[in-house]
Amino acid sequence: MGTMKNRATVAMKQSLAVQENIVLPGDTNAHDTMFGGLLMKRIDETAAISARRHSRGAVVTASNDGVHFHRPVQRDDIVTLTSYVCCVGSSSMEIFVKIMTENASRDEPGQIAAISFLTFVALDEAGRPTEVPDVQPESREELAVFEDAMARKKIRLSKRSETNELISVLSRIGD
Ligand SMILES: CC(C)(COP(=O)(O)OP(=O)(O)OC[C@H]1O[C@@H](n2cnc3c(N)ncnc32)[C@H](O)[C@@H]1OP(=O)(O)O)[C@@H](O)C(=O)NCCC(=O)NCCS
Repeated sequence: MGTMKNRATVAMKQSLAVQENIVLPGDTNAHDTMFGGLLMKRIDETAAISARRHSRGAVVTASNDGVHFHRPVQRDDIVTLTSYVCCVGSSSMEIFVKIMTENASRDEPGQIAAISFLTFVALDEAGRPTEVPDVQPESREELAVFEDAMARKKIRLSKRSETNELISVLSRIGD
């Protein structure tokens, strides 16, 4: 991987991606709320657009910290996913995704239904991890999201070694 010298810094808002949909009857579960798997797909898609906008190259999802479903997204709600790169390592980008739900018939502000953090890795033409620009928070929300990035990274990397160890044990068992 290249040297860290003269690394460009870009604003978080440069990687902003927004996806809006209305929750159709076919998008719901037995409780008439949005099917969680569909939301997770959209989270990954929106995050991938942010990762592409930040790195301007090929990217892959390395991990997803999970989605905490804070409030249900109802049928006929307008669901808005907003994402941006909120922290970077060398080749890795942490993406913040905010999921808002809004009743399409009422004149009320949308509410946060869920948030999620994912990690994408930028790849060069040979498919190897490659350096990405640094990122700069500006708004109050961006600063709040950025603040705990190192703590999240620590947990994520420890989870990664745990997963790697278990995969290596399972591979040796080979059943
Ligand atoms: C993600 C991947 C590119 C990492 O490649 P690698 O050869 O292990 O590279 P490294 O160990 O040097 O890791 C590269 C970076 O990714 C980060 N990373 C790797 N795995 C990670 C994980 N599970 N969670 C968070 N970050 C991770 C590393 O911390 C490192 O970050 P840095 O460059 O900012 O320091 C590789 O594991 C891969 O291709 N995985 C499959 C991805 C995929 O197919 N996704 C779609 C799923 S269907």
